[in-house]
Amino acid sequence: MMEEEKKKVVEGRETMPLLTPFKMGNFNLSHRIVLAPLTRTRSYNFVAQSHAALYYSQRTTKGGFLIGEASGVSDTAQGYPNTPGIWTREQVEAWKPIVEAVHEKGGIFFCQLWHAGRVSNYDYQPGGQPPISSTKKALQKEGSSTKYPPPRPLTTDEIPNVVNHFKMAAKNAIEAVIGFDGVEIHGANGYLLDQFLKNKVNDRDDEYGNSLENRCRFPLEVVKAVANEIGADKVGVRLSPFADYCDCRDSNPQALAIYMAQSLSQLGILYCHVIEPRMQTMFEKCDNNVSLIPMRKAFNGTFIVAGGYDRNEGNNVVGSGGADLVAYGRLFLANPDLPKRFELDAHLNKVDKSTFYTSDPVVGYTDYPFL
Ligand SMILES: Cc1cc2nc3c(=O)[nH]c(=O)nc-3n(C[C@H](O)[C@H](O)[C@H](O)COP(=O)(O)O)c2cc1C
Repeated sequence: MMEEEKKKVVEGRETMPLLTPFKMGNFNLSHRIVLAPLTRTRSYNFVAQSHAALYYSQRTTKGGFLIGEASGVSDTAQGYPNTPGIWTREQVEAWKPIVEAVHEKGGIFFCQLWHAGRVSNYDYQPGGQPPISSTKKALQKEGSSTKYPPPRPLTTDEIPNVVNHFKMAAKNAIEAVIGFDGVEIHGANGYLLDQFLKNKVNDRDDEYGNSLENRCRFPLEVVKAVANEIGADKVGVRLSPFADYCDCRDSNPQALAIYMAQSLSQLGILYCHVIEPRMQTMFEKCDNNVSLIPMRKAFNGTFIVAGGYDRNEGNNVVGSGGADLVAYGRLFLANPDLPKRFELDAHLNKVDKSTFYTSDPVVGYTDYPFL
């Protein structure tokens, strides 16, 4: 490294909150820049492929924190082509070299556990059954060519079975054969757990519907079961109370946010990972003044924010105490060496949206250039 560059790095470290170390529970992170979970649809037949080892290791730094792409917890969980699962022996074994590649470079790697709920269709379901949900109302996704059939609402006595699927998937994720460092439960973006949380979708009249407390019951049962199985210190939860992706909205998102933050705090989990309220759609920022500060204050563990962050905003939110860590999605996808680029304030590659949900093992995946 040239003297000039070295000087810039040292100066950067002194002034950049994003590049300061952080102790997240038992994990010593060397910086605050997290790889957000990003579905890559390149896990053929729902089995993670060896090319994912290169993808994740490209984005690994020593002491850096990575969250893996959403991984299905059971044979009813899938809703997209070529997304990985973590419920069969073959799927579990397939993750092993990928996790090893991240660990070899000193990264900390969590597996995101996912159930799509009604964001699925007959083709992904065993026996061509309807997908399961909190409701029988079909998802109406504007602008999408995919058609979503009316789901089948889970009966009250089926719910413990789905809780158990999350628990088993968590056990699979951290068992010695794979060794993820922990799991993130996907409670965001309009998928199954979010379908229970939000009253636009949850129209149940059993103990899992109606009141705020009831709507949060099933997601919290999942968190509790997973924490009991693998330890609360290895569990994070992702939430998007303010978003309405996949037509999943709540009439009082602030109350939902605070109740979940307090409940997760009581369960003593490692982190709470929240999508910024300004992300009304998955990829576009809008102007709204809703703040995550009340939610951050209601949660005692590590607080991670995501959604539309760039270098400056990331530094500001960490520097001002608004968050401990910042998860970067599209910028990290397009810039495998994002922490280095932030450190040097270097030029950033542009993300190629046309390759987001495509299945090539290289294009738009492992071919983004390093500095
Ligand atoms: C291609 C793509 C796939 C995504 N897959 C997931 C996913 O598997 N799980 C999840 O929670 N969020 C997923 N997201 C959302 C991102 O984690 C992140 O919240 C979003 O991109 C906004 O952050 P950004 O502005 O830094 O990109 C995905 C986003 C993109 C672009």
